[in-house]
Amino acid sequence: MKKFAKRVTNAPRSFTRKILDVIGQNDIISFAGGLPDESLFPHELIKKEINYSLDNLPKSMYQYSQAQGAIELREELAKKYTNSNKNQILITTGSQQGLDILCKTFIDSGDTIVVEAPSYLAALNLFALYDANIVEVELTCRGVNTTQLEELFITKKPKFFYTIPTFQNPTGWSWEDKCKKEVARLAKKYNVIIIEDSPYNALKYEKKEELGFEELLPELSVTLGTFSKTLVPDFRLGWMRADERFLKVFQVMKENTDLLSPKFFQRIVANMIKDGNLALHVETLIEKYRVKRDAMLDALKVEFGEIIEYETPKGGMFFWIKFAESVDTMELFDEAIEKGVAFVPGSVFFKDHNPSSYARLNFTNATIEDINTGMKRLKKALIRYNNQHE
Ligand SMILES: Cc1ncc(COP(=O)(O)O)c(C=O)c1O
Repeated sequence: MKKFAKRVTNAPRSFTRKILDVIGQNDIISFAGGLPDESLFPHELIKKEINYSLDNLPKSMYQYSQAQGAIELREELAKKYTNSNKNQILITTGSQQGLDILCKTFIDSGDTIVVEAPSYLAALNLFALYDANIVEVELTCRGVNTTQLEELFITKKPKFFYTIPTFQNPTGWSWEDKCKKEVARLAKKYNVIIIEDSPYNALKYEKKEELGFEELLPELSVTLGTFSKTLVPDFRLGWMRADERFLKVFQVMKENTDLLSPKFFQRIVANMIKDGNLALHVETLIEKYRVKRDAMLDALKVEFGEIIEYETPKGGMFFWIKFAESVDTMELFDEAIEKGVAFVPGSVFFKDHNPSSYARLNFTNATIEDINTGMKRLKKALIRYNNQHE
């Protein structure tokens, strides 16, 4: 339609939305979405906390107030970070809003930004919507290619580098500390802002502590966080941590969008952090998700043995598996749907959507039984695919 802004006609169609539609219609086991296990949503705890809040919080809680968010929650969040205080925290409507605020703040049409290849699909779509010139840097299971990154910092002078260094979406990979330190050094040297998106950090299945850019580069990095994976996505509560000179601008950008995020849920979550109930819930999630991860690992071994490659994710929600070079997972996807299982083909996580032999498999949403059945179906789909491509 002529009246639409250019960005509407340029808007990339979200593949995940398409598959979620397909899955909704059929008896399909889905490893596709990045969804938490809803049987683990802590409904009783939420009910208890809401009732407590209704009885104890002042009526003024319902009033308009500053966009920055409820002090109680900002104070609790600041404690997560070294050397941060509540003035360095802005509460957002999910971390997706944090991404939008970053685009509004930093991206003029045609500005260059760097992303990992592969990267989070919805962020890639959003950056495209703001007409950013998206440049990719190679990612491996140990971190980004820092030689290539330095070259890009020098030649492209990007506004920022967007990364998910811990339990990444889509790969589940985490950078080695050495890589994080080198990227922090480069960012400082070439004055590039690092955007660290960290929705999965708390879902950690091994003991190792993960270094964050807030520690390595507090003034030149922005951290995005969310309660979507540790509590419930529906509260739409996320946050941004940044130096105050950035945060003040982010606040104005947020005000222009939605004035503020509902304080009611902010106060409830602040209480859940204070009384320790959120931490206990996260421990439960970790226990349950670790079992699911291990179940998917076993099923992958049983069904595919040596014919696929992958790393075992130490946290988060995804396996990133590589089939033989000759397999185009976008075509395999159609076979998989025929056999009653879904995954996300790797190509959608790259800027140019070139054919890819990778696939992202989510292990948190399906039951163990479905993980086993789904993997058998995927194996059948691969056999059929291979037969047709001989
Ligand atoms: C890397 C990444 N960033 C941001 C988000 C958005 O999360 P939220 O529900 O906080 O908006 C997701 C959700 O899956 C994600 O994987």
